[in-house]
Amino acid sequence: MTKIAHTEAKQLAQQYGTPLFVYDEKMLCAKMDDFTKYFQSDAIETGVIYASKAFCCKAMVQLAAQHGLYLDVVSGGELYTALKAGFDPERIFFHGNNKTPQELSMALKNHVGTIVVDNRREALRLKELLADSDTSVHVLLRINPGIEAHTHKYIVTAHVDSKFGIALVQEDEVIETIRILQETNGIIFDGLHVHIGSQIFAQDAFTDTVKKVFGFAKHLQDAYQIDVHTVDLGGGFAARYTDEDAPIPVKDVCQAILNACTEANASLSAPVRRVMIEPGRSIVGEAGYTLYTVGSLKKTPNRHYIFVDGGMSDNIRPALYQAKYDAVLDGKEDAPAADTYTIAGKCCESGDIIIDAIALPEAEENDLLIVKTTGAYGYSMASHYNRMLMPAVVFAKDGDSRLVIRRETYDDLIALEV
Ligand code: LLP
Repeated sequence: MTKIAHTEAKQLAQQYGTPLFVYDEKMLCAKMDDFTKYFQSDAIETGVIYASKAFCCKAMVQLAAQHGLYLDVVSGGELYTALKAGFDPERIFFHGNNKTPQELSMALKNHVGTIVVDNRREALRLKELLADSDTSVHVLLRINPGIEAHTHKYIVTAHVDSKFGIALVQEDEVIETIRILQETNGIIFDGLHVHIGSQIFAQDAFTDTVKKVFGFAKHLQDAYQIDVHTVDLGGGFAARYTDEDAPIPVKDVCQAILNACTEANASLSAPVRRVMIEPGRSIVGEAGYTLYTVGSLKKTPNRHYIFVDGGMSDNIRPALYQAKYDAVLDGKEDAPAADTYTIAGKCCESGDIIIDAIALPEAEENDLLIVKTTGAYGYSMASHYNRMLMPAVVFAKDGDSRLVIRRETYDDLIALEV
């Protein structure tokens, strides 16, 4: 987790205001470099795709490009951001369970490298769009391997009735969809995609997925003469939010996955040639933190509240997934705990809690509260509830900082109104 210097936090809050998302740019780069360094193998081609849904803006996409990552987008909006950032479209993977015809056309027109098809209907839609186009595109089919990922039920994606991909138990549907893809002019069918869930701590979940998907690739080969060139294993690597979290080190999980791939490949007569992963949270989560200003403090019979100037509008994760966070009062890190506080935001909702219970030193109005590990799915899931303004986002590095997203204004808020 980022250690934040008191002078840095104070200066950033003064310069940019609060609430403020701050990213340690060096840590962002180090996380990306870790993945590209350790997800390497002599036996198989590899690629690391940044899942931009975790935090998407032009500056982040550009950083991913500079560090040799591919990019995962899941909507026309993320695709537009990537294109405006100058990201090489050939290196973009376009995901999503219900891409609209407009989004698919946008991808084809802009020469997106790979589309990850979710279902048979989408394969047909793509076929229709390609009928009057001379473009070609690589395609992966998302399958659902039915792996239990032991994470929050909202972020598990591979149970049998998941809305994502085609379940392996529906083999006829999988084969029929692959045949549509193979027979369509302009589609280069590359292979399979899976993503089993997010914030996963168990290495077995990843290696079991490899076994299952490569096993299925062998079955496709033996029973249907279908060649699987690429397997994209998705993301899901955990981040450390509190001391209770112990994510598998990137080096270990990458090696375990690659070893499992090499082992599984040995049983295939035509081996899988390329394996990809799609980390999002594990790249941006711990590199980001949120600065809030403490407003009122309030004691109720059973709670001591610290109210901050943001809330569920910039961090919905505690309300949505009961996510846990750690925080410090800036400049008081070494002071003894004075009480157990509840950190609440300013939105009109009782569930607007950032941290349910945390021991902190004596808090006072105008203190700066630093909530750690907010870099993933914080800004990207922010909302306008109560017409709260989107916070600013800065990248900090070597005592310097640059604004990458400015704070929203009240005029921005009503700008869409006619
Ligand atoms: N690839 C695919 C196809 C995905 O659906 C996702 C995340 C990822 C990659 C990246 O997963 P990561 O490495 O970040 O775990 N809003 C939730 C997380 C939802 C994740 C959705 N898909 C949260 O705040 O916990």
